Amino acid sequence: MSVKGKAVLVTGASQGIGKGIALRLAKDGANVALVDIKEDKLAGVKAEVEAFGVKATTFVADVSKRDQVYAAVEHTEKALGGFDVIVNNAGIAQVKPLADVTPEDLERIFRINVDGVVWGIQAGAAKFKALGHKGKIINASSIAGHDGFAMLGVYSATKFAVRALTQAAAKEYASAGITVNAYCPGIVGTDMWVEIDERFAEITGAPKGETYKKYVDGIALGRAQTPEDVAALVAFLASDDSDYITGQAILTDGGIVYR
Ligand SMILES: NC(=O)c1ccc[n+]([C@@H]2O[C@H](COP(=O)([O-])OP(=O)(O)OC[C@H]3O[C@@H](n4cnc5c(N)ncnc54)[C@H](O)[C@@H]3O)[C@@H](O)[C@H]2O)c1
Repeated sequence: MSVKGKAVLVTGASQGIGKGIALRLAKDGANVALVDIKEDKLAGVKAEVEAFGVKATTFVADVSKRDQVYAAVEHTEKALGGFDVIVNNAGIAQVKPLADVTPEDLERIFRINVDGVVWGIQAGAAKFKALGHKGKIINASSIAGHDGFAMLGVYSATKFAVRALTQAAAKEYASAGITVNAYCPGIVGTDMWVEIDERFAEITGAPKGETYKKYVDGIALGRAQTPEDVAALVAFLASDDSDYITGQAILTDGGIVYR
């Protein structure tokens, strides 16, 4: 299983799962472009990536903006001397009972979690075609892309949408040698879960930490997921070993949702 020498763009790479993916791919020999809105954290991740002896570059882009995603892809090709894989990882959570969801709530999360993936698919596939070679598009879905979760209804809707886009894109781009897959993590102890837990505490009155603990207690393998656990699946999807897999949204959750 190898991604050695491949040029990979990872969005949402400043922290959490995206950072974990970037480091794992670098360890496996890939050159990595780190894309995020959080500029201050990118330099530190770049240094960690370069410590594996590969090339790294950073680019500040908001994935909800089509032109910025295209610019990130252009930058990656120039900086890394190629373009082979795009990981559309950036996303945000939203904890709210459906009764309270506003038009602004819907607008904000769909622009990032869904539009961002559409732009990543478009820009990535256009670049692979322009370069005249195969490519891999890897999107962040979730267990919430397979089951709708209470208080996370709109978030779940965005992650179901990512699964639909993954299937449709796989069919549209197969003839160009482009595969499109999604990874579906469970409960990963990142800042996103700190925020989810805090919002649950505000809404339900649950003590801080209890919602996270409740979800982790429900995992068959008995522990929370790490970014490294997620990165192991993404490294496989980025490698030639997954060449015959397309249109799939693969669960990596330690045993929460069974499909
Ligand atoms: N944490 C979990 O348990 C979990 C489970 C399933 C799926 N996911 C998905 O995995 C992905 C990463 O989640 P995480 O837990 O690492 O979250 P995180 O909040 O720790 O990190 C998300 C990163 O995305 C960046 N980002 C946010 N909006 C952006 C935008 N508009 N443009 C560019 N970058 C942006 C943030 O700055 C941040 O660096 C998300 O798509 C999330 O929905 C997370």
